[in-house]
Amino acid sequence: PLVMGIADQLRERGILVVGPNQQAAMLEGSKIFAKEFMMEAKIPTAPYYVVKSTSEVLQAAAHFSPPYVLKADGLAAGKGDFICKNLQELKTASDNLFEQKILGDAGNAALLEKFEPGWELSYLVLTNGSEFVSLPLAQDHKRLNDNNEGPNTGGMGTIAPLQITQDLKLNIEKTIIKPSIELIHKKQFIYRGVLFVGVMVTQDGPKVLEYNVRLGDPETQVILPLIDSDLAFVMKNLAEGKISSLKFKNLFSACVIMASPGYPDNAEKNVPMEGLENIYESSNSYLIHAGTKHEQGIWKTNGGRVLGALGIGSTSAEAIKNAYELTNKISWRGMQWRKDIGKYFTSST
Ligand code: GLY
Repeated sequence: PLVMGIADQLRERGILVVGPNQQAAMLEGSKIFAKEFMMEAKIPTAPYYVVKSTSEVLQAAAHFSPPYVLKADGLAAGKGDFICKNLQELKTASDNLFEQKILGDAGNAALLEKFEPGWELSYLVLTNGSEFVSLPLAQDHKRLNDNNEGPNTGGMGTIAPLQITQDLKLNIEKTIIKPSIELIHKKQFIYRGVLFVGVMVTQDGPKVLEYNVRLGDPETQVILPLIDSDLAFVMKNLAEGKISSLKFKNLFSACVIMASPGYPDNAEKNVPMEGLENIYESSNSYLIHAGTKHEQGIWKTNGGRVLGALGIGSTSAEAIKNAYELTNKISWRGMQWRKDIGKYFTSST
């Protein structure tokens, strides 16, 4: 909706809205637009080529070594990135995009970019287009399977706050967040909303993977419970162009996504779910329904990412334990969930 201009439409009608205007929403709506924006702001990001056919992809691939990263330009619900181990896989992904049109118009153009190994974090800020306030850092787990294997998904689990060194935080703010907001300001985008920066921390420092122009899923699930300010007040202020100072709880949160069989390619709906009636929810442990339905007394899957199991705790380990206690009580045929959410974070700190 933001890419289609809902924020502009609402503002024209005098309705307060948290969200960027249509032009700024292209930071998420077009990967090419976003890369050009990063280049203009001199923000560190992987080198890339814009490609529109398999032959252009294969020509550009000569400048990189495997694995190859092909990213559809348009919105693709987390399914637009292809990490290809060799040229054959790259050709297949490229044919699927440009000839089979598996993503429709979202795949009319793409980026072929250098693979930058590292670890990922989600840096979200509230911004009025000239100032910003940071939200607790989160870490998503994008691959379907444990050990970061399998296809990319919209996100299989998150933890927050990710505790990184002060040096790294300052570096990200200086080289990525501030220049992004400065260019948004210079371009006079109307941006009263959330800027979500996907950052890859590489050997050469932090680099931008992508922008989103909204709260992320499943980042939102772990960030919002940590905010100790009145969210309605903060959001109303933001919609009016004012940045509030934020207070955060001294707690940790974890979200484990439970997905349908077949997710992410062909998520199966209508699979009966078991165990929901045995769940005891509390403020430290609860479920968020994302793709469920309740029919004749039976809970069934109704989408790809079906449930988010939320754990809150005074340590990261406690939050993760609380989340997994929920997943252990629920099952359905072909249920998919990662067993290692937060493992990298907790074992590295
Ligand atoms: N978890 C990433 C996103 O919401 O796009």
